Amino acid sequence: MSAPSIVAENLTKRYGSFTALSNLNLKIEGSKCVGFLGPNGAGKTTTLKIFTDMIRASEGRALINGVDVHLNKKKALGSVGALIESPEIYPALTPREALSMVADLRGLPRADARKKIEETVAEVKMNEWLDKKVGKFSKGMKQRINIAAALLSDPEVIMLDEPTTGLDPRGQSEVRDIVKDLKKKNRLVFMSSHLLNEVQEICDEVAMIDHGKLIVYDTLSNVTTRFSSGGSNTVEIELSRDIDEQSANRNISSLTSVSSVDRIDARKVRIHFSGGIQNQERLLLDLATMKIGMISFRPAASALEDTYLNLIKDTL
Ligand SMILES: Nc1ncnc2c1ncn2[C@@H]1O[C@H](COP(=O)(O)OP(=O)(O)OP(=O)(O)O)[C@@H](O)[C@H]1O
Ligand SMILES: [Mg+2]
Repeated sequence: MSAPSIVAENLTKRYGSFTALSNLNLKIEGSKCVGFLGPNGAGKTTTLKIFTDMIRASEGRALINGVDVHLNKKKALGSVGALIESPEIYPALTPREALSMVADLRGLPRADARKKIEETVAEVKMNEWLDKKVGKFSKGMKQRINIAAALLSDPEVIMLDEPTTGLDPRGQSEVRDIVKDLKKKNRLVFMSSHLLNEVQEICDEVAMIDHGKLIVYDTLSNVTTRFSSGGSNTVEIELSRDIDEQSANRNISSLTSVSSVDRIDARKVRIHFSGGIQNQERLLLDLATMKIGMISFRPAASALEDTYLNLIKDTL
C-alpha cells in the first residue's frame, strides 16, 4: 500500500476579481499530522473545500492519493474523511442513529455499518454514549461524534477545519487527544487551526498560508529553527521519570550550546540553546545519551508563535 498523499498543483480560486487562493503548490505524503496555519481569510477553508470538492478551483488540480478530486470525485474522496463546517447533530438522535444516517448517505452497506459505527465511536472514546441522545452532550462530545462520522469510511486522509474552535479548554483537550491518536493508524491528517500550541503539540509538520499564498511547508522543527527570531532556540523535553532540580540544572546546563534550563515540572524541562539545527541535533543526541528517560523532544510552545508572527507580519 502506498503512503497517503495530498497534492495541490497550481491551485487557484477566484471569487470575481478577488483571488482567495493563488497558485498553491503543496505535496504532503506519508502518515503524519500536518497543521495548516494562517490568519483569518488566508484561504485555509477554501483549500480544504477544494480538496473535498465542495467548491471548484478556478485553476490547478487537487489530488488525493494521486486521484483528481474534481475529475474522479468518488474515487478520490473514497479515501477521505473530512470535517469542514461542523454540522449540528439533531439533538433527539443518538450517535448510533446519527451515524447510521451518515453511513446510509455514504452508501456503506448496512451489514458493515453497524460494526463500523461501533468502531469509530470507540475510537473517539464515546462508546458509553452510543445510545444516549446527542441533545445532552457537551460541544466537545458532539465534535467527537462529528469526527467519528468522518472516520466511518476508514479514510487514509483526514481533513479537519479548526476541529477545536468554539470548544472550552476541556473540550479542546478531548478533541486534541482524539486527533493525536488518529495519525497512529497510517493516516495523513491535514488540520487547519489558529491554536499554535495545539499545532505544536499534535502536528509533525506545518504549512502556512497568507493571502492565498503558501509561505512555508516544512517540519515543525525546521520551521521554528529556520524562522524564529534571534539566534536562541528553545525546546521542551518530556521525561518518563522524575528529574530533580539539581540534576536538571547541573547535568543539562553543562551540555554544549545550552544557555539555560528551566524545570517546568518533575517530568518537563525547557532548554534554551544557541545556534541552529546542527546544535539542536547535537543536543538531542547528548540528551539521549544522558539516559534521563527522555520520551519527547519538541520546540517550545512559544517557538511556533514566534515563527508565525515573524512570517506573517511581513505580508500584512
Ligand atoms: N463564497 C465566497 N465569495 C467571496 N469571497 C469568499 C467566499 N468564500 C471565501 N471568500 C473569501 O476568500 C478568502 C479566504 O477565505 P477562507 O474562508 O478560505 O479563509 P480562512 O483561511 O479559512 O480564514 P479563517 O481563519 O477566518 O477561517 C477570504 O477573504 C474570504 O472572504
Ligand atoms: Mg476558515
